[in-house]
Amino acid sequence: MSATAVTVRVPATSANLGAGFDCLGLALDMFASVTVTFCEAEQPPTEDVGEKMVISAVRHAYQRLGKPMPGVRARYQVAIPLGRGLGASAVARVAGLLAVNEFERQPFDEQALLDMASELEGHGDNACPALFGGLQVCVQGADGHYVRAAARFPADAHIALLIPDHSMPTKEARKALPDVYSKADTVHNIGRAALFVAAMASGRLELLAEATDDRVHQRQRASLFPPLFDIFAAARAAGAYAAWLSGAGSSVAAICPEEPARAVANAMLATAKAAGYDGRALVTRIAREGATVSRVELVEA
Ligand code: HSE
Repeated sequence: MSATAVTVRVPATSANLGAGFDCLGLALDMFASVTVTFCEAEQPPTEDVGEKMVISAVRHAYQRLGKPMPGVRARYQVAIPLGRGLGASAVARVAGLLAVNEFERQPFDEQALLDMASELEGHGDNACPALFGGLQVCVQGADGHYVRAAARFPADAHIALLIPDHSMPTKEARKALPDVYSKADTVHNIGRAALFVAAMASGRLELLAEATDDRVHQRQRASLFPPLFDIFAAARAAGAYAAWLSGAGSSVAAICPEEPARAVANAMLATAKAAGYDGRALVTRIAREGATVSRVELVEA
């Protein structure tokens, strides 16, 4: 029996970037690799949460195509941890959608892929940089389609990451947020989200401390991760321009020059540990490239 294996490499992402709640995100130079195998025979169901998410994105794409889904199996070669604010669910969804697009010979254009990935996610701030790489602004237009623009960023910026052992599921972390914000808080965040994009485009990274000063979600979510603001302060003290809660957490990202990046990552981990939260610290960059696809036809004699 023949089969087709499509392998999709998708970057982890960091969303919100301080004040750009649900609309700003960047791709990290940390790539997951997912192989989706299409064959005629029905495949046994998986218990893996990430693989289930890949399969449900595959199912969604077939529903959109109005075609029956073939036998499908998903396997991670390299995974991004779930529930850490690194876009693991966007990785799974983008992998499933791009695998179908490759297998079915490109029925979806970029807009359709962005719309489907963002709809499955509920917002485009991880899905968009996972698909297209770099620093992205992504909003949902009045007609329901997602609108995106890539923004320039300094090639030498480094990202120090604290990845805690505990997860903060997005659903729970969104429950911590109010339904209504004051005019003052809204105005505060609009200006800073715009400032973030302008500071990155012009290389004026010293503005990022102000640009990441958010009033919409980080203070509220600190109730789920109490040392959050001490971790931000430790990152700044060690030489970072700014730090933010990555997506809905639990990871914390700090943007910094190359030289203090390791010290920044270590300072964040030490501060988390001192408060009783263990995890991993690492240094990465912003990935220019988004998701890529390769295809192999498996032929059995
Ligand atoms: N922007 C989302 C949130 C997470 O903060 O809840 C990433 O999609």
